[in-house]
Amino acid sequence: ARTIAVSGSASGIGRALAALLRDQGDRVIGIDLRDADVTADLSVPEGRARAVAETLERCGGALDAVVASAGVSHFTDLTVKVNYFGAVALLDGLRPALARAESPRAAVVGSISGTQPADDAVVRACLDGDEPAALRAAAKVVEAGAGHRLYPSSKAAVARWLRRTCVTPGWAGAGIPLNAVAPGVVRTPMSAALFEDERMLKAMNDAVPMPLNGYADPEVIAEALRWLVSPANTHMTGQIVYVDGGAEATLRGPDV
Ligand code: NAI
Repeated sequence: ARTIAVSGSASGIGRALAALLRDQGDRVIGIDLRDADVTADLSVPEGRARAVAETLERCGGALDAVVASAGVSHFTDLTVKVNYFGAVALLDGLRPALARAESPRAAVVGSISGTQPADDAVVRACLDGDEPAALRAAAKVVEAGAGHRLYPSSKAAVARWLRRTCVTPGWAGAGIPLNAVAPGVVRTPMSAALFEDERMLKAMNDAVPMPLNGYADPEVIAEALRWLVSPANTHMTGQIVYVDGGAEATLRGPDV
């Protein structure tokens, strides 16, 4: 059996993935704020270090795959802390353990929002690995009343980090594919509030058009992640796989 670490395993997409993996006989190390094998807060450096250390302890130093699904969609800097720095710290921190496995794989959950208007200063500071600078830039965004840009910024930064990182010696050179699934709107506790507010719902439907089958269930996103981290995926890396009901194709337009 393979051993796979999944962050955000207590809810939504991470939880659906953990269930799929366990059903197929994998051993899952769930990481979350609560109801997990490893309880840790990925928004802060100590919590990230703890998540990595405890996962390493549980897997005995060799890990077959990691999926970073933990995330939040607040209009505050917490979104940058968890979605970017939390995800990157987990993937980077567990990379040496992946390198010891036979068919190591890694994936992160991005978002269609990563294609929407972002704040350049936040994205740049993220890619520089400078969390204090990213949080200062995020504070300015919030002050300017544009807190809604932090979620797209965090996901755009993850997408760019992924493309530059996947081809480096530590990843491609060590035989570790690194990809993202970018969902449209998924019915999970994260999106539940949107469905209760008609104005929010209309704004979301305009921003994320999903002509193919509408909103997705978390299991649908989990299926794509399952393949990305399976031994079958030997050559796909650095890709943002949109599982979004056609949102990205619609927004990109017919001429691109
Ligand atoms: P969810 O809210 O159902 O699950 C997220 C999980 O992450 C929760 O169990 C939560 O406790 C955990 N988490 C949050 N902050 C954490 C922290 N500081 N430390 C450790 N764990 C933490 O949300 P969902 O929908 O499953 O989201 C999973 C991923 O999918 C996120 O990265 C989200 O941005 C992304 N996504 C979700 C979409 C949606 O419509 N639901 C659309 C596009 C992307």
